[in-house]
Formats: sequence, C-alpha cells, structure tokens
Amino acid sequence: MCGIVGYVGRQPAVDILMEGLRRLEYRGYDSAGVATIAPDHTLDIRKSAGRIDRLAARLDEAPVSGTIGIGHTRWATHGPATDGNAHPHVGGHGVLAIAHNGVIDNFAAIKGRLIQEGYQFQSATDSEVIAHLIADCLAEELPAGLNGSTAREVAASGYAPLVRAMSAALAQLNGTYGLVVLFRDFPEVILAARLGSPLVVGVGDNEHFVASDPSPLVGHTDKIVYLADHELAVVTADDLKVVHRDQGHVDHNVQVLEFESGDVDRGGYAHYMLKEIFEQPETIRNTMRGRLSRDEATAVLGGLNLSPGDLRAVDRLLLTACGTSWHAALVGEYLCEEFARLPVEVEYASELRYRNPPLEKNTLLFAITQSGETADTLAALREVKRKGHPTLAICNVVGSTIAQEAAGGIYLHAGPEIGVASTKAFTSQCVALTLLALYLGRLRHLSFGQGMQIIDRLQELPDKVAQALESNDAIREIAEKYYQCGNFLYLGRQYNFPVALEGALKLKEISYIHAEGYPAAEMKHGPIALVDENTPSVFLMPQGLVYEKVMANLEEIRARGGPVIAVVDEGDTRAAALADDVIYVPNVADFLQPIVSVIPLQLLAYHIAVLRGCDVDRPRNLAKSVTVE
Ligand code: AGP
Ligand code: GLU
Repeated sequence: MCGIVGYVGRQPAVDILMEGLRRLEYRGYDSAGVATIAPDHTLDIRKSAGRIDRLAARLDEAPVSGTIGIGHTRWATHGPATDGNAHPHVGGHGVLAIAHNGVIDNFAAIKGRLIQEGYQFQSATDSEVIAHLIADCLAEELPAGLNGSTAREVAASGYAPLVRAMSAALAQLNGTYGLVVLFRDFPEVILAARLGSPLVVGVGDNEHFVASDPSPLVGHTDKIVYLADHELAVVTADDLKVVHRDQGHVDHNVQVLEFESGDVDRGGYAHYMLKEIFEQPETIRNTMRGRLSRDEATAVLGGLNLSPGDLRAVDRLLLTACGTSWHAALVGEYLCEEFARLPVEVEYASELRYRNPPLEKNTLLFAITQSGETADTLAALREVKRKGHPTLAICNVVGSTIAQEAAGGIYLHAGPEIGVASTKAFTSQCVALTLLALYLGRLRHLSFGQGMQIIDRLQELPDKVAQALESNDAIREIAEKYYQCGNFLYLGRQYNFPVALEGALKLKEISYIHAEGYPAAEMKHGPIALVDENTPSVFLMPQGLVYEKVMANLEEIRARGGPVIAVVDEGDTRAAALADDVIYVPNVADFLQPIVSVIPLQLLAYHIAVLRGCDVDRPRNLAKSVTVE
C-alpha cells in the first residue's frame, strides 16, 4: 500500500528520496520518512505523520547528508498515523533501518519473543519486527561485531552475512513485504526483497534506485529490473545482484522503461485527477492502438496467449475485480454477453477468493485491475489458477504482480494513473473489454459486417470523449448549485447501470458525500424513500432501448420533489424540459455509452470535491493500490 524508495550512488540521497516520495505519495499519505547514512556512519532518520510537506519542513530544520538512503510513505495497517509509527524503523539498537510495504501476519508472536530477548519496540506497527528480526539474525552471523577488516571481508563476499541474516529473518515472516534495508556499518549497500508487494530496481550510471513503482526512476534512468516474489537484491552504486530464495543467484533482466517525465507530473492541471480525466481521448486511443484489424473485422489481442481454438472452447467467463475495476467488469458482462453470447459472471475479488463456486471445465478468468497489485484480486486469480483454469488479466501497470502471474491478458497502455480516484483506467478497461468482446464475438457469432460496425464506432470514440469533455464549464456550474447536498442518487439502466455505480463511487471517494448508484427501475423498491428537495438524482439517459423507461423513472422522482440532473444526448429537448439541470453528451452506440456518460460524472465529482475543499488527489482514508486484504 505504501511507497518505498531507495538510492545509492554519488548524489545527495535525500533529494532523490524526497522527489521519489512525492511521486509515490498517491500510494499512501499517513506519514513519511527517510533514513540516510552520513559519511561518518551515522544513521540519520527523519519522519513525520501527515503529508510529505511536513517531512520536508522537518528536513529543512534538521538536514541529513549521505549518498545512500531509503524513504517511505505510509498507508497505515497496524497502528495510527503518528510520528512514531512512521517508517523507516530502526532495528537492533541502531544497526539498521528498514522501510516496509505490506502486512506481517505473525508479527505479534515474533514481537513477543524479541521483547523477551531484550529488543525494545518504539512503534505499534507490524513492520518494526522485521527490523529487529534482521538485526537479531545479523548478530548471529557477525557475533563479534565489526572491525575494519571484517567489514571489508563482508563486502568482498558480496555481503554474504547480510544476505544470510536477511534471508533467515524473511523465512520467519508470514505475510507480504516490499522491503528495503540500510545497514549502518555498510554505508554502500541496500538490501531489498519482495513477497507479494511490488519492488523495482532502476539501473543508472554508478547509481541504483529501488522503488515500489517506476515513477521515482523517471528522469534518472530508463533501465528497470522488476523483482519477483522471493527475490532479494543486493544493491550498491556500481553493482546489482539478485538472489532467489530457492534458486540462489539469478540473472536479472534489465528492461527499458517507457515512462516520460510528462507522465508523472500534473502538466499544468490543478490536480492529477483533472489531468487524467482530460487525457482520456488519448488514453482510449492508446488502448486501441494497433489492436483493430479492418481486414479481419476483429480485434488483435496477441497478449492473450491463447489460440483461437482455445478461446472457442471457452464456455463461460468469470470477471473479477474490486472498486472501479469491478464496475468495468459489469460493463464487460453486458459486452461479452451481447457480442460473444457467452455466459459471464462478475464477482468481487474479495468474495471470490473465499467462495468455492463450481467452475465448469471451460471457464476462463479475467482479473481486471489498474494497478495489478490489489491483494484481493491477486488472491482470487491465484485461487482460480490453482483449480486449473486459465487466468488472464486486464491491467494497466506493466510488470505488476498480477500482470506477471496471469498467463496473458490485455495491457491498457493508459499511462500512470496517480489520482487515487480512478478515471482514465476505467474508460480504458471498458475499451479493452469491448475489444475482447469483439474478438470473442468474431470467433463465434458476429458477422464481418457487424465486426466492422463495431470497429467504426470504436474509431470515432476518442473524438466523442473529447466532445463530452467540452461540458466541463457547464458541469462546474451545476456543481456550484449542488455541492452542499448531503446525499445523491445515481440512476441508469443496462449499459448505464455500472456507470451509475461508478458515478456514485467517484462522488463518495473524493467529496465524502453519501451517494448511491442504482438501476433506475430498482429505485422504486426502496431508495425512492430517500428522495426529497435536497437529494439530487443524476439520471443517465442517453437514447436507446430503455430511454422511455428511464424517462418514467425521472417523472417519479420529480413527482416527489427531488431535483434531477440528466445526462442526455445532444439535442434531447424532452429530457431537458423536465430536468432541473442537463448535461449533454454526444450520441454513441449503446455499448460505448459507459465510456462517454462516465465523463460528466467524473467531472461532477471533481468539481464538487474542489468546492468542498477536499484533497482531490489524496482523499482521506484511501490509497491508490490496496495491497492488503
Ligand atoms: C477507484 O476510484 C478506487 N480508488 C478503487 O475502488 C480501485 O478501483 C480499486 O481499489 C481497484 O484497484 P485496481 O484497479 O488497481 O485493482
Ligand atoms: N503494515 C505497515 C504499517 O502499518 C506498512 C503499511 C504500508 O504498507 O504502508 O506500518
């Protein structure tokens, strides 16, 4: 959940760590901290509850030096967001410092034992046990402590005693970790390890970087190594070695990172979320790029790693995800049923992982995830994989854990999504699912002509999304009218039902206003009791099969005095005459409506949150990727 950064090289470490932490802050922002080793071998730690700016102020008052260091930005799982619980944590009376991302399930038992052995704990976190445990194992490796020659011997052995100590400690942990460790007496090496939480190493000229995701590397190096579970990296300025728990030394694969600095800054927008909303015409184009074949009237999805024959044999799709990605999965259900005539089940990953649904032999699972790190989605994927079913992913972050563990899938290519509220990933997920449905459909019932029609509609989509964004100013005015309301309803049917859920989630997440999404017709079975003059209902009612039906629901709300905001197709004067406020979107085929009609809902949530003074990019209690259960 948190962000980890590490640096070893020739430059002042703290500058690189702070820049990296700012880029990782979206992952967690309960507290932040850094540790460096000064040239005189002092371990310097500064940490602070709250946002990175508070840590920066602390560093202004009490600077640190050194060309090696680690940093952390926390999303608390054990212990409140206090200075004392902030990472890095020190182990063994100051011999080392660690920063940890993840959860240690058996921390209480280990802590009890270490306290009996005389270790003193300073925090309520689970992570601090890792620090003392490694120190304890190190004391066994180097019982006589260090003198100059031993330190040189340790370095000459490739830091073998440190690796052994860390491996022995890790073997005792149950849970997940992305971990970086600094050793006071070895101010030239960082040890890093992962199990279940992401970690990458950036390879520079006479310098290395360690980070939870690639963003801190941008502008420094484009060479990246993705560590795998059970790997441990020994990182010095000039060298990188990777050791696997079972295989010993392994060759690491240096890949080229395709981020650019524009991908990780706000590019002139007030917030990342707004930038990401406005990027959508381009990100949608990127998801489709090279994947539409007019010759075959189908989608080209080479990454699925399944032959057309394998895919024809699939009898059932299971789509699993959390949050916004789960809403995209619901859109996928409509798409795959309509185009491929395949039975589809959509299940929350957190439920699927503990259910034991009877899965027919030819069931294919797709895990849908922006980050590729969501713990529940990963666990659901593993569970279905264990039962022998092919497991694929629709994922944005290249090299993420789910992308690695899935047998194949579709990358979104939407670029890094930094705003905690997902926007561009949702629309790209819907596009990827449309491509999938088209591809599966063309292997089954869809004709060449039908395939071509879908392709034509998809190719117009980026321009339609750009048109939908033109309502931004009008939406801001609507937000000004309603931002003090305490409850909202979002109503839509068919393809627009998941959009109603997504609109309500966006508003809840960033403005802290209670909102409910419902299938419009379901409203009269209960939620209509909520309607009064202070509860606006946002109706999604573009032209289509259920337009008249939704219109009837709109009348029902009006009859009870509820204000109505209607999202309608351009030129729809009928709805405009009835609604209190209207947002126009361009007309698109029904299967693409979610991608267009979600745009005004993203903007509405954004403007309401800004007007209420909320921290749009870092909403309270949330973090970007939920790497805990
Ligand atoms: C979206 O706005 C949320 N912050 C959240 O629901 C998110 O979609 C969910 O945690 C799933 O994340 P993933 O797509 O990275 O797996
Ligand atoms: N479990 C640790 C803590 O609560 C780490 C949380 C994180 O990954 O940020 O401090």
